[in-house]
Amino acid sequence: MFTLTLSDFSLEHFMQHYWQQKPVVIRQGFPGWQDPISPEELAGLACEQEVESRRVFKKRGKWQAESGPFESYDHLGKKGWTLIVQAVNHWSPEVAELVKPFAFIPKWRLDDVMISYSRPEGGVGPHIDRYDVFICQGSGRRRWRVGALGGHREFAAHAALLHVDPFEPILDVELLPGDILYIPPGFPHDGVSLEPSMSFSVGFRAKSACHMLSGLADYLIDQDLGNELLTDPKRPIHQHQGHIDGADMARIRAQMQAVLDNDVLMADFAGSFLSKTKCALDLQALDEPLVADALLAELARQPLVRTGGLRCFYLDATVRKGVCYVDGERHVFGAKAQASVKALCDHDTISARQLRGGLQLPAFVEALTQWVNAGYWYFED
Ligand code: SIN
Ligand code: CO
Repeated sequence: MFTLTLSDFSLEHFMQHYWQQKPVVIRQGFPGWQDPISPEELAGLACEQEVESRRVFKKRGKWQAESGPFESYDHLGKKGWTLIVQAVNHWSPEVAELVKPFAFIPKWRLDDVMISYSRPEGGVGPHIDRYDVFICQGSGRRRWRVGALGGHREFAAHAALLHVDPFEPILDVELLPGDILYIPPGFPHDGVSLEPSMSFSVGFRAKSACHMLSGLADYLIDQDLGNELLTDPKRPIHQHQGHIDGADMARIRAQMQAVLDNDVLMADFAGSFLSKTKCALDLQALDEPLVADALLAELARQPLVRTGGLRCFYLDATVRKGVCYVDGERHVFGAKAQASVKALCDHDTISARQLRGGLQLPAFVEALTQWVNAGYWYFED
């Protein structure tokens, strides 16, 4: 279990003064740190086809990056390379525990837990991310330099490695196990390992308007929505045929705005879109599927655990009808399921007591049974 410990300021102070604004080091944010995964286990994961991984190193002074899966690490030597594995919270329940202390930020903002194992002098080079990241230092020491926002030239140091020009650090720190470095999007940074070390990056993403609107357009097409044509009865005589005038622009904008103002449509879109996972889930479907009664009997004995990385949400506009969005799919269970839907989305581990309203409803029990059979939720024992 990881307990976030802030000694220099409160969480409220962090959110008011640092979150999305400036980088900060949280010394011993996780006192008594123990790596939830070993370098060997991490290297093993990077051999798997479904797991996204990269290795970064220099060859004759030139940056190199290669994508996994990897077969061997023998040729890499003792120094100057880094292995990065994406979304390890999807593959390791122990690593997924590291997401819990960050529950003061909603799950839809979470991206994943990326882990890097670096040999001495290893690092990925100076770069800028479009993420908020809490870099939690695991075993070993790493030196981090962070620059100020703005005006940094980015270039491809290698086809798969975007770097920035050298920068003046505003932070230059050595992280020890249990220390946390928070970096908002846009601040250039560069971490260099001082000894074999592990870094656990809990990353948070925010989508651009472009990404959201393109997702919305795909959603409208898939659901066959928003097909009504623009109307303009009683149009006045137009004076300049080549002019798209202000009144017409207002009609066009109002037509689009009507989609954005449709609370239920937007909730259904946002819930489905934001609950889709970017990286694969480690879904362990049951060899012998349960029937609903067996599921209820087991749930009376032990809680259900949500598979690491599974995203499920509810929104104000639809939760009153018992709607939840699980891994990109919309499910409707009716008003009586409201409290159960909230509990299911708010908690990583969930008991029969927390789900009692929903468990009275055959449709809810059926969905839960299917989710458990498919591996979205599982019983630990
Ligand atoms: C790393 O852990 O080596 C890279 C993390 C980052 O800079 O985003
Ligand atoms: Co970075």
